[in-house]
Amino acid sequence: MNPLCSLADLDAGTPMVVRRPPQRSIILMAVDDGLVAFRNACPHAGFELGFSGAALHCEDDQLLKCSVHGALFRRDTGVCVSGPCEGARLKPIELVISGSMVFAPNQSEST
Ligand code: FES
Repeated sequence: MNPLCSLADLDAGTPMVVRRPPQRSIILMAVDDGLVAFRNACPHAGFELGFSGAALHCEDDQLLKCSVHGALFRRDTGVCVSGPCEGARLKPIELVISGSMVFAPNQSEST
């Protein structure tokens, strides 16, 4: 398993972008039901939604915004609710919490 961050790194409501080689970029955040993670790649054109958590921020705290063409995604499910890929979904990444650390199983890293 690959460590992504510690639980203490996750501010409630603030998305975090974690990079793991080779070329894995993951969006990680706390939501009402726990933690969620998605591959940081827009289903519309494959660009990273944003290079930092701040870049993903949307005025509505329930949504993530792609900084390239502006698609909006639900934070809890990754489903696009507005934009060129409406109805498509960000690829979820499985998470494992052990102690105070958050990990991604190796098979999830290969997606
Ligand atoms: S690349 Fe994300 S909305 Fe087009």
